Amino acid sequence: MARRFGVDWDAYLHGFHAERPGAAEQVLSRALNGHHTPYRWLARAVSARATTVLDLACGAGAMTRELERPGRLVVGVDISAAELELAQRRNGGPWVRGDALQLPFADESLDAVVSSMGMVVIHPTSKLLEEAARVLKPGGMLAFIAPTVRPVSPGDVRVGANVASRLRTLPRFPGPLEFTDFAATLRSHGMRKYEDGRERYRITIHSRADAELMLDALYLPATSQARLDAAISYLENEVRKNGQVELAVPMRRIVALK
Ligand SMILES: C[S@@+](CC[C@H](N)C(=O)[O-])C[C@H]1O[C@@H](n2cnc3c(N)ncnc32)[C@H](O)[C@@H]1O
Repeated sequence: MARRFGVDWDAYLHGFHAERPGAAEQVLSRALNGHHTPYRWLARAVSARATTVLDLACGAGAMTRELERPGRLVVGVDISAAELELAQRRNGGPWVRGDALQLPFADESLDAVVSSMGMVVIHPTSKLLEEAARVLKPGGMLAFIAPTVRPVSPGDVRVGANVASRLRTLPRFPGPLEFTDFAATLRSHGMRKYEDGRERYRITIHSRADAELMLDALYLPATSQARLDAAISYLENEVRKNGQVELAVPMRRIVALK
């Protein structure tokens, strides 16, 4: 994997997910738009007729479970043993340990491939899309969600800038946050973009413990503990002043057909 931002991402992700399995789920399951989470939004993209579904980079399995329906097989694949152990302790599955860049599935064997966050975490994106396209049946669907930069409100920008100035960085990912030449990449793998949507989710912080939970779940490969503490204290102060503070989580959902 390329050293984006000078980070050895393979080593960083391995350590992060071994130490903090379920971190992504702790954030995304508390991110709300009305009453729904990003997981629910992604699950809604999957046709009721899809009976074999792969959840790529499933982590602790929140998305996998969201996809379960009577008569549907949902398989969760992840590279992290610790994430899968946590997934297994709950219900659902089957859970498969594997690399999304070399999927252990036959060509044209699945109705849908879904990923929450996989597209910004697994790199190179083009190889990931090639593998997803390979395992999809003709007419099959790829759907994924990823954090993005908009929509946000002026209030979101203020809080986000204050947190980022304490951290002296934004959260980082191995892959790009804003996909640009995406339609062309999909086409080169025999797929076409069907939908590209954005939604703003929000996480409400009520206490220092909430702030710690949220910031601990971010990929911050070059951030010292002192900077992390400063950002947590800023959020704690905002809670003290206003009773709560909202963090915006803009998300993008892309759906493609083979
Ligand atoms: C940000 S977490 C998202 C987890 C889950 N999809 C969710 O949204 O709750 C990213 C996940 O990608 C997994 N991952 C990273 N590289 C991978 C790869 N090459 N193949 C499969 N999984 C990978 C990590 O182990 C981690 O569980």
